[in-house]
Amino acid sequence: MCGIVGYIGKRNSVDVIFDGLRKLEYRGYDSSGIAVIVDKELQVRKKVGRIYNLRSDILKDPITSNIGLGHTRWATHGKPSEKNAHPHMDSTKSIVIVHNGIVENYAKLRTELLECNQEFESETDTEVIVHLIKKNYSNSLFRAVQETLSEIKGSYALGIMCKYEPDKIVCARRDAPLVIGIGQGENFIASDVTALLHYTRNVVFLEDGDIAEIMADKVIIRDIRSNIIKNREIKSILWNDAQSEKNGYKHFMLKEILEQPRTIEETFRGRIYPNEGRVYIKEFGLKDEDIKNISNIYVVACGTSYHAGLVSKFLFENFAEIPTEVDIASEFRYRNSVLSKKNLVIVISQSGETADTLAALKLAKSKDCWTLAICNVVGSSISREAENVIYTYCGPEIGVASTKAFTSQLTVLYMLAFDLANKRGKLGKEKLKEYLNELWEIPLKISGFLKNIKLLQDIAEVFISKRNFLYLGRHVNYPIALEGALKLKEISYIHAEGYAAGEMKHGPIALIDESMPIVAIVVKSGVYEKIISNIEEAKSRGGTIIALASEYDEEIVAKSDYIIYVPKVNEFISPLVTVIPLQLLAYYIAVFLGRDVDQPRNLAKSVTVE
Ligand code: AGP
Repeated sequence: MCGIVGYIGKRNSVDVIFDGLRKLEYRGYDSSGIAVIVDKELQVRKKVGRIYNLRSDILKDPITSNIGLGHTRWATHGKPSEKNAHPHMDSTKSIVIVHNGIVENYAKLRTELLECNQEFESETDTEVIVHLIKKNYSNSLFRAVQETLSEIKGSYALGIMCKYEPDKIVCARRDAPLVIGIGQGENFIASDVTALLHYTRNVVFLEDGDIAEIMADKVIIRDIRSNIIKNREIKSILWNDAQSEKNGYKHFMLKEILEQPRTIEETFRGRIYPNEGRVYIKEFGLKDEDIKNISNIYVVACGTSYHAGLVSKFLFENFAEIPTEVDIASEFRYRNSVLSKKNLVIVISQSGETADTLAALKLAKSKDCWTLAICNVVGSSISREAENVIYTYCGPEIGVASTKAFTSQLTVLYMLAFDLANKRGKLGKEKLKEYLNELWEIPLKISGFLKNIKLLQDIAEVFISKRNFLYLGRHVNYPIALEGALKLKEISYIHAEGYAAGEMKHGPIALIDESMPIVAIVVKSGVYEKIISNIEEAKSRGGTIIALASEYDEEIVAKSDYIIYVPKVNEFISPLVTVIPLQLLAYYIAVFLGRDVDQPRNLAKSVTVE
């Protein structure tokens, strides 16, 4: 998944583009490049590695232009290298392109172009697009792009310039995000709004099939049938630029972990009324009658969002008594699931751009299921594809490892489960008030816990030399064990595995010896005694136990080597507190190991390719 920025207007486009690329670096960061038009000629600079490398290169030999395109890459075809970095030009150096997505028929197109003696500089799929545009170009870049797009299959967000038409950028999108920023005498394009917020909050989200011409003083958008679209809504983004800055924190990830008391509150504010025993999620458009008729719920997502889905199974089944299946999106879409009209399919996605989750959503819609998206990015592809969308309102999440988005997703899922349970007559008013009050107090309880994060730092330092970890949980905290393991492995590169504690004796216990730390989630719950015995089994085989226990629990002392006390809350609500120390443990281990915490190797913030 890559990042694209484009600018045309009165400023030096190079400055605007670097501002934007810096904000998009979390989308991909193995190489970057910039293209501008100077005196009706194209100039392109590219560098491997972080955007800083390109910036340094340009500071040594500055360029100024009122129009330009920039790109930061996460390699799909062709290894990270200068020649594979975007932008790519045609052989006559008259047309230049930046691309996010995959050209699925690029091999066939490349062969056909080679047969016409076309030379290629890179190994990328993207380069075939710019050669086709040149082939189709007569005297209109728009028409050449339009013709080319009918020849390519796959996903794209594109920015294109032509030296013969130096007053415009042409852009287009299909199954990859692209947003237009509307300024005064200047206009922008970007892969997501965080790249634009410093300059404008007024944006237009392109739809699949749109092709747009971006000039300094106007924007013309045409749909897939070339009809000019006059009424595409200009949205005003509520986020401000500062939210997508570190504001003094060493890493975005730490900032976002510590923001969670506020972001959880932002997510439920105006949606729960504990004293009245009321939930009001106005975006959840299902009518009460339909809610009563839901036969099954399918929850579909990837990664951390999938773990939030696993928690929701306990909530929908325990509170609303609705049978619930949770699926990894890349499995769900190929599993030929038996779906029907009375199924509610909930997709969860922080970015709203994950390709497999988007495809699963489209499959559910094709089977006439009710569809609901839980997203964090307004105007994202998934949020616009679903019949209804509930936003998590936790602000831009820049760290590749998802933290605040996860707890905001859980918060939405709690509210939804309580709402469904109440409307289906399974949760009375008094119990509803009790659970809503529990949720209401969570931000304060997490704030209290976050006062002693030094403990997590100290424990992390003990374990930085370990090469394997086991995370154990039961019931509603089994998904949190999975999430804790994912956090550790994705930012520290240490192998970690989350396991249902009751499964240990069915094999994994063979892994345990003195070199194996075991993180066990053993908060007070209906399965407390069971997990205590799992801990004893592990400890008796030499495992080192790091226990996440409910505050004031004394029994755990003799059974653990390290104890992290978390606030005592209702067991069904406990995932909102048990995940916090696991986020911090992973964070501090990665920091001690000198990892690139916000932009770990091989990863990207949103996987918009399959
Ligand atoms: C989480 O820390 C990872 N970065 C990753 O698993 C992520 O949750 C997954 O790619 C899903 O992303 P989404 O929520 O934007 O769809």
